[in-house]
Amino acid sequence: MEKPLDEQQLMSLGAAFEQAEMWPRAAQIYDLLLESQPTHPLAMARRILVAGRQGDFETALRIGARASGAWCDAANTLAAAGRADQAAALLRRAIEIDPNLVLYEGLAGIELPGPSYYQHLAWLHEALQPRTYLEIGVWYGQTLALARPPTLSIAVDPEPKSPLPAFATETRVFTATSDAFFAESLWTHAVGPRRFDLSFIDGLHRFEQVLRDFINVERHSTPDSVVVFHDTLPLVPLAAEREIGALFWCGDVWKILPCLEHFRPDLRIVTIPTAPSGLTVVTGLDPASLVLAERFDEAVARFGQAPYAMVEARLSGMRGAQQNRRETLIEAIGRVRR
Ligand SMILES: C[S@@+](CC[C@H](N)C(=O)[O-])C[C@H]1O[C@@H](n2cnc3c(N)ncnc32)[C@H](O)[C@@H]1O
Repeated sequence: MEKPLDEQQLMSLGAAFEQAEMWPRAAQIYDLLLESQPTHPLAMARRILVAGRQGDFETALRIGARASGAWCDAANTLAAAGRADQAAALLRRAIEIDPNLVLYEGLAGIELPGPSYYQHLAWLHEALQPRTYLEIGVWYGQTLALARPPTLSIAVDPEPKSPLPAFATETRVFTATSDAFFAESLWTHAVGPRRFDLSFIDGLHRFEQVLRDFINVERHSTPDSVVVFHDTLPLVPLAAEREIGALFWCGDVWKILPCLEHFRPDLRIVTIPTAPSGLTVVTGLDPASLVLAERFDEAVARFGQAPYAMVEARLSGMRGAQQNRRETLIEAIGRVRR
């Protein structure tokens, strides 16, 4: 009786069928292996690719969900054994093969352990107790819901999701782009000419938009205000692309960091390596500063093409939980309560 093919032989046979573009045969081989080892990561990855080549997206999605879980389990086992570098490398490789949110979140859990950005925002509200909070980019309202009375929350999004949650504090949501919101001073019709004590910039994830948002926010802040950027530490180049893709999307927001460091050395800028994609806290604002507005084109020309390697350089000094703590945040804002 013939001996059944072992795992390695099946993988080689599958690869040979793929090379010959014999997709149904390749699919059969990988299915055979997956029958005995349902979470074999490479067999799942190849099966997804073959299903894609066959236009069988249902199978690709079904196995994809399972495959991501298997990659994450394998990475978590490595991380628990103290091999976080290998765990992260494994997930980066998996993301190259199959870019998806589950894998990105798995990677974030390993590279940016500790409290998430939600927790940091909640700490900011608690420590600052801002009179006014501005949020650019509402989506489902999860971060907007972190504000507490007596803060007055003002938020803007051209397409906030509906229904938004019940908010604990007085909240006005403006359905508009941030540019229109500032150009038309929309909030003053509703709440008067108040300045923003705390602002969270999390709208359109393009560098030039984030820069414009910061210019506008700073102009309507006080020297004691705090501005926070989301998505300043995208963990893989795919997440940092300017076009929204299959993966978690940070866009090229991160370019705001080298840009502010270059043009505004007077600002205090602290980035916290919190999952899933970093949070940057800016203080020492100067509402009268015209530097960024006057040099906007120069800033976009200079940093618009900045390479992702600049993020990697920042990340290399930030992995692990050391700086992801409440103390780092409180030190960044320099005070608790006004
Ligand atoms: C990442 S989501 C915000 C997530 C939310 N802050 C949270 O953490 O729960 C980004 C939001 O920005 C909004 N957005 C897109 N373009 C915008 C613009 N020009 N001005 C303001 N918001 C914008 C999108 O509609 C989307 O809801």
